[in-house]
Amino acid sequence: MGHFSAKTLLALFVTSVIGVQASKSSVPDTFPILLACNSEPSFFSCENTTPVKNACCSPTPGGLVLLTQFWSTYTGLEKKGQKLPKGSWTIHGLWPDNCDGSYEQYCDLSRQYDPVPSPANFPNGTVIPTWTGPGVDTFIKKFGREGLLKYMNTYWINQGAPNADLWAHEFSKHATCTSTFDLTCYGSSYKKHQDVVNYYDAAIRANHLYPTFDILAASGIVPSNKTSYTLDQLEIALTSQIGATPYLGCRNNGTVLSELWYFNHVLGTEQYGTYKPVKSTTTSSCSRTAPIWYYERSKGSQEEVRK
Ligand SMILES: *[C@@H]1O[C@H](CO)[C@@H](O)[C@H](O)[C@H]1NC(C)=O
Ligand SMILES: *[C@@H]1O[C@H](CO)[C@@H](O)[C@H](O)[C@H]1NC(C)=O
Ligand SMILES: *[C@@H]1O[C@H](CO)[C@@H](O)[C@H](O)[C@H]1NC(C)=O
Repeated sequence: MGHFSAKTLLALFVTSVIGVQASKSSVPDTFPILLACNSEPSFFSCENTTPVKNACCSPTPGGLVLLTQFWSTYTGLEKKGQKLPKGSWTIHGLWPDNCDGSYEQYCDLSRQYDPVPSPANFPNGTVIPTWTGPGVDTFIKKFGREGLLKYMNTYWINQGAPNADLWAHEFSKHATCTSTFDLTCYGSSYKKHQDVVNYYDAAIRANHLYPTFDILAASGIVPSNKTSYTLDQLEIALTSQIGATPYLGCRNNGTVLSELWYFNHVLGTEQYGTYKPVKSTTTSSCSRTAPIWYYERSKGSQEEVRK
């Protein structure tokens, strides 16, 4: 042992107690404490016949879990290196709808990190405060999760603003309304922003269940600026692999495919539980009759990511 000054020892002590000053050798855990769930019954969310006793064990009331994705043809920040992943849709978020399809948003203003809240107000007119602090990317770095950050900058892409703004929006609007990310679920050893990192890991895991680009391409449905598709063709190709029809979202009066929402019931937590696809509760905004365009990305807007 060398000779440490009292100040150094104090610094070491504080660092180990707080535990989030991750070095290469120590990356803090971010999982919740689920031991109490072992003595709870197992069921798929929205399918339980008795009320959920411990909301850390199953998302409630937001038991209809949506994994949502974007298809965009450009980001607007290509010059800053913000590009779209070739051969892949991008992550939008992981959302807790109520079992009837309605939903809550911005449920915990003490965890409001969204620099541009949308909507700007609650229905009663109360303004949702704007976050002016550091970006959520700094939270991820603080946890030593450079690999996660790189993955998010590859597959979780914003349009017209930095990626971290979208990540912050998704967490504060949706994860704060998802009971399995409640602060109480992390116990007394909770480390600030642990829930944020845990949510991003969970969304990425759920996104892996739905490789939209490959599912469509395997049915001959590839982005094209020459050939259009029908809503039926798209829905049938997806449903053949998912087992339940997702929501397809279109812009331009229902003619330009731009998003997909995959609905699920979850056995256990959103973080580690089993997702069961269920049918969309929302009518597609794509035209049932008009041709639907699944456009190619703009030149210079995408990068190879499958190396
Ligand atoms: C307005 O609604 C929000 C969200 O439901 C709630 O937190 C807040 O207390 C309400 N404010 C007033 C003045 O009713
Ligand atoms: C939008 O689509 C509807 C139904 O296909 C059509 O009746 C309407 O004219 C369209 N509107 C525009 C602005 O193209
Ligand atoms: C395909 O069309 C879309 C929509 O007009 C456009 O944004 C995109 O740049 C086009 N892609 C190519 C490769 O021409």
